[in-house]
Amino acid sequence: MKISIYAGVLSIAALALTGCADMKTRNTPLQVFPDMKKQAKYKPQAASAFFPDGRASRRPPAGTVAQGQLNEDEAFTTGIVDGMYVGKNPLPITRATLERGRQKYETYCSPCHSRTGGEVGIVGRKSIAAGLVWLPANLLEPRVKEMTDGEIYSVATNGRRSMHGYKYQVSDHDRWAIVAYVRALQRATSGSLEDVPAELRSELR
Ligand code: HEC
Repeated sequence: MKISIYAGVLSIAALALTGCADMKTRNTPLQVFPDMKKQAKYKPQAASAFFPDGRASRRPPAGTVAQGQLNEDEAFTTGIVDGMYVGKNPLPITRATLERGRQKYETYCSPCHSRTGGEVGIVGRKSIAAGLVWLPANLLEPRVKEMTDGEIYSVATNGRRSMHGYKYQVSDHDRWAIVAYVRALQRATSGSLEDVPAELRSELR
């Protein structure tokens, strides 16, 4: 007897704790304390009688630059100064830069240029299978090796012929990091014995 009274009290307490908001009803729950759930606001693209042009979304005042988006350094953002490609990558060539470059290269470039840069990536293979002749350039061939860092950066930025640019998908910094990594891939296929530290050379023979 006692047990069933306890059980009854407990289940009523449990029901009370679940609260009204969880009830399976389509009606708006009764809000005793509104908890700021409802407040005046504009939704994106909505109309507004408050502004003379009738739009709730406002344009930023002319000349406004978002934080971190002031691209003052032309060489860094375009890879070109005075109509000439920048010669050398402005980033410090560190392990962190190369790691970042590898990550971004493998995300944005390898689908077409393959992970090594010298083969046809999956997009190219599919295009060949579909009978289309659309081949990504071989990034390890001498012609591309001879390009300056700025030229490769510029291709990654704006694209070239049948390749699209990645200006909007990949940040300026990360496109330079990609250039550093492409250089590492190129170097990996054209190293000489002199590139190996002297004390390790004997192990290669
Ligand atoms: C959707 C496929 C695709 C992706 C992704 C892609 N490329 Fe390309 N890329 C191409 C094609 C196709 C060409 C050959 C363009 C031509 O000659 O018409 C090319 C050519 C190039 C060239 C040589 C340009 C020349 O003058 O011949 C470079 C350098 C290059 N890509 C770098 C990159 C880098 C760096 C990335 C990553 C940010 C990248 N590509 C991503 C398809 C791609």
